[in-house]
Amino acid sequence: MRRTIIAANWKMNNLMKDAITFFSEFGDTALKSENEVIIAPAYPYIPLASALAKKQNIEIAAQDVYPKAEGAFTGMVGGKMLADIGVSAVIIGHSERRRIFGEPNDLIREKVKFVQENGLHLIFCVGETLPERENGSMFDVLKEQIHSAFDDNLTLAPEKITVAYEPVWAIGTGVTATPEQAVEMHAFIRKILKERYGYEDSRILYGGSVKPENLQGLLSHEDIDGALVGGASLKASSFMKLVNF
Ligand code: PGA
Repeated sequence: MRRTIIAANWKMNNLMKDAITFFSEFGDTALKSENEVIIAPAYPYIPLASALAKKQNIEIAAQDVYPKAEGAFTGMVGGKMLADIGVSAVIIGHSERRRIFGEPNDLIREKVKFVQENGLHLIFCVGETLPERENGSMFDVLKEQIHSAFDDNLTLAPEKITVAYEPVWAIGTGVTATPEQAVEMHAFIRKILKERYGYEDSRILYGGSVKPENLQGLLSHEDIDGALVGGASLKASSFMKLVNF
């Protein structure tokens, strides 16, 4: 049985006061839930979130990492720092990092390797753009994103490697993939993970305009193991509905 993950990616949103309000309203929602709850605040608020989430069974994630322990890398946040502030999971390869910051596949590969070497929970994002879906190349795109990032000898425990299928055309647009579209891609990802890397029990999340109104439809399919949520995760009232779907 794969445990459902409901993960929040706050991106560059939620200030200190918002985080305090969020955790006070969210209370012991995660403790009472059977689902695994992950929250990824922006770097400056990770220690606050870790402190507020203490004993609440919430995993605190970083939205990215620079794949070095420490050193002369102006503006970057490295692995030693993340460990120091209680981060146990990292999102890698989000389409906003690929697109807005031009993150290339070889850097993403280094980050995946780094996350693995440090025993962190990898939340690896893949997804096609609208033109790629329209010209039918979405399967090739996903395959390339996965193969270029993963070493053939992945050693992460299955529960520490999570793939998030996030079609770029669904992120922040209000357009969600239909459960049928998502299931097709999830099944494809699962096949690659199993056949090429020997991972049968890793979780595959869907991300892209997930809301309390559409989560149930998505999660009713066995290949969809949870959700990575942006906009609808910013307020506790809405994220609680997702966790308690
Ligand atoms: P969204 O973002 O829920 O706001 O579409 C999802 C994501 O980027 O992970």
